[in-house]
Amino acid sequence: MQLLKDRIRKDGKVKEGNVLKVDSFLNHQMDIKLFEEIGKEFKRRFAGEEINKILTIEASGIGIACVVAQSFDVPGVFAKKTKTKNIAGDVYTSKVESYTHGRVYDIIVSKEFLGKGDRVLLIDDFLANGKALEGLADLVKMSGAELVGAGVVIEKGFQVGGDVIRSKGIHLESLAIVDSMDEKTGTIVFRDEH
Ligand code: G4P
Repeated sequence: MQLLKDRIRKDGKVKEGNVLKVDSFLNHQMDIKLFEEIGKEFKRRFAGEEINKILTIEASGIGIACVVAQSFDVPGVFAKKTKTKNIAGDVYTSKVESYTHGRVYDIIVSKEFLGKGDRVLLIDDFLANGKALEGLADLVKMSGAELVGAGVVIEKGFQVGGDVIRSKGIHLESLAIVDSMDEKTGTIVFRDEH
């Protein structure tokens, strides 16, 4: 998605440790006009698929998932990260290992909001190691819902997540795939620009 790649080039900042900071328009301050275009792009990429629910994970997936849900005209649900799954009631639960933060957390979604008959599109802002999407896919499977695919705004193509998700046969659409970044020069190379 050219508009997105241009924006990443203009406002993204390459930080130490292969971290791409996009908090001026994607995951802290949010450019809602850009989000609207992202929503339309996912709608286009999953055209012809029957989708009745968008599922994401808190925190920074929520904003983008809301706008995508609007574009599909379906409800958006977010999985909660929790330490209190035992008192959370009637929920599906899975584990997500955060490579970046070096810890494991439980994610939950209420059985009330996900189940048989649902056709689900997963949405997230970043795909790095794929653990968040794997956890969400797990919840979908447990619930008896159908996983239609996954859409991410930025895939870090030099990390394993894209391969992990595609190798599971999940239809994955990434709007910008970053293949390399250089923190010294600030250079960002996208997948289709080699
Ligand atoms: P994974 O879910 O693909 O396995 O990713 P990983 O554990 O490696 O990443 C942990 C968190 O860091 C995720 O957010 C992910 O979105 C974010 N992240 C990974 N690489 C980058 C990057 O280059 N730039 C930015 N801005 N974020 C990155 P999280 O901690 O799960 O949650 P939250 O921030 O949404 O609350």
